[in-house]
Amino acid sequence: GPHVPQKGISVIKIWPHSKKMKVEEYSLNIKNDSIIIFSGTNEGAIRGIQTLRQLFVDEFHSQEKRDTWQLPIVTIKDAPKFKHRGLLLDCSRHFFEKEVIKKYIDLLAFYKMNVLHWHLTEDQGWRIAIDKYPKLTETGAWRTELDSSKYGGFYTKEEIKEIVAYAQERHITVIPEIELPGHSQAAIAAYPHLSCTGEQVDVANDWGVFKEIYCAGNDSVFIFLEDVLTEVMELFPSEYIHIGGDEAPKFRWEHCPKCQKRVKDENLKNEHDLQSYFISRIEKFLNKNGRQLIGWDEILEGGLSENATVQSWRGMEGGITAANSGHDAIMSPTSHAYFDYDLKAIDLEKVYNFNPIPAELATDKQHYIIGGECNMWTEHVPDEANLDSKVFPRILAMSEVLWSYPEKRNYEEFYNRVQYHYPILKNKGVSYGEETIPVTYFLKPSPSGSYLSLKSAHPSITLKHRFNCETCDTNFIDYNETIKVNKTGSLQIQPYKNEKKYGELIELPFSHHLAVNSTVTYNTKYSDYYTAGGIEGLIDSKLGSLDFRDGSWQGFSGDNAEITLDLGTIQEVSTISTNYYQYNNSWIFLPKEVQYSVSSDGEHYINFDSILPKKPAEERGQFIEQFTSAFETIKIRYIKIKAVNIKNVPDWHEAAGSEAWIFMDEIIVK
Ligand code: ACM
Ligand code: ZN
Repeated sequence: GPHVPQKGISVIKIWPHSKKMKVEEYSLNIKNDSIIIFSGTNEGAIRGIQTLRQLFVDEFHSQEKRDTWQLPIVTIKDAPKFKHRGLLLDCSRHFFEKEVIKKYIDLLAFYKMNVLHWHLTEDQGWRIAIDKYPKLTETGAWRTELDSSKYGGFYTKEEIKEIVAYAQERHITVIPEIELPGHSQAAIAAYPHLSCTGEQVDVANDWGVFKEIYCAGNDSVFIFLEDVLTEVMELFPSEYIHIGGDEAPKFRWEHCPKCQKRVKDENLKNEHDLQSYFISRIEKFLNKNGRQLIGWDEILEGGLSENATVQSWRGMEGGITAANSGHDAIMSPTSHAYFDYDLKAIDLEKVYNFNPIPAELATDKQHYIIGGECNMWTEHVPDEANLDSKVFPRILAMSEVLWSYPEKRNYEEFYNRVQYHYPILKNKGVSYGEETIPVTYFLKPSPSGSYLSLKSAHPSITLKHRFNCETCDTNFIDYNETIKVNKTGSLQIQPYKNEKKYGELIELPFSHHLAVNSTVTYNTKYSDYYTAGGIEGLIDSKLGSLDFRDGSWQGFSGDNAEITLDLGTIQEVSTISTNYYQYNNSWIFLPKEVQYSVSSDGEHYINFDSILPKKPAEERGQFIEQFTSAFETIKIRYIKIKAVNIKNVPDWHEAAGSEAWIFMDEIIVK
């Protein structure tokens, strides 16, 4: 390469023939006059070279400072803890050009990862050219967006070969993912006979889980898939082929005579068994061709096929079950490995604290956990800069989790090393994002207002804030102490680092009202995943925003929200309102009715009002609707709220029959 070695170094030697070393093991010796890498294989040598490249820190990567750089005198003996260290890159929801893929392969190599899990087919786009089925890319690679524009793209076979070869040179394995039986609407749009109904559908232009899946009763579907997989195997020499297997709604299969005949003929119990039949049949085909199958943890349902490797995403349980039954598993749980999640859910430290080996897994089963991946789904990642900001710096944490042993890891020490990587990443054209959300807040409601304290993520981050409302006219001021919020409006927070704005302006909407800090009792249970912070969540004066994961929304799955509110004393009330969220792609619907009843003694209630939604369940997009009852002032102390859940996702919906959610925040009494 172009490097000028340190003055005095006269020997650079790479010796990939050491007999006793494991595949990716290496030793790196930097002395006054020599650099020597020993390994047992070229793979090991390549990993050692990456460590050496990483030691060429900031000074080396900057033109101005290059004269002053020095290498440390070190001896490093190193080998990875896990053999499978991957990044899933979803190129279907959004398409990324060949050059972006190559950049990512370079970066994976630099951070000693060894797998690019390439997600190539989806409801929203088929991205790999298949000679035998040209419509997969002619039709299936293109979607019509809601604004009528065309979006899409695909990789030609030449491009794929180039990418695979590029990865091979760097000892990165590219594992293709061809989704089945679900997430296949783009293929069905190209070849409608592959579905249960045979009806023409469009390539999906919205996000979610869709009910059009490959028919399991139709042998021509298996012929199609075997043809596709044959061409896929010609392009990808990887031992593993990923076949998806996740999120396949069984609605069509339940209503399809061909699928039902298959259930009967094969003595299957139900549609889960049918999915298992489907996967096993594909696995036999792959095995016959010398390949191994990986599938998402849903492939456990109805019984795991013989040699399958499970990629655990709905927590660690799938991986544990697989390991306990003697199957290999790859860990990429939503809790730590989903890089499409925002920093509030998964920040750098959270990723760093990930342990792919679950505590409850017996020692003699731990070797079944072959590694992990970070999953970069791209529904909300439209371009390369956005992709970079989601993957970096978090992947540095994942690479260390997968390479090194937990007892060797120390977040503070890692954090300091990460700082040295920003100039390197900048130099490599990576638009890295932030490490964590710059500010967290704590809210303590009281009858006279809510006390809000802010905490910056790091001493170097300072905060300015102001309250913005119709009658307020405040400039930003430095945050030093708890803020009391007793107005309706929006608290705006701007973080700064080194005198520069750090991240976006944060807006926290508030409503001040009579029920703040009143006593709430629940007659139904809210979800552990969407708690709004607990029992004070609905009466803390802070309103849920348009981001349903903002921590302010309280979710009720498949059940009504039934809540009783005690204002503490008799109060004069003239409006009762509650806010609900709808985003039907994520199965969140407005209640079909909200009933308010009131009482002054807590025993005798009057059914007071019943409000129906203004917007229908079919309404797409994300929005908030207020269910308000306004009246002449009455004197009351207790209010019962019953928000009636539609219970099941309606028939017209892709996920028909699943449990519907109610999302609620806040209860506003004035
Ligand atoms: C997944 O996130 N559906 C694997
Ligand atoms: Zn069918």
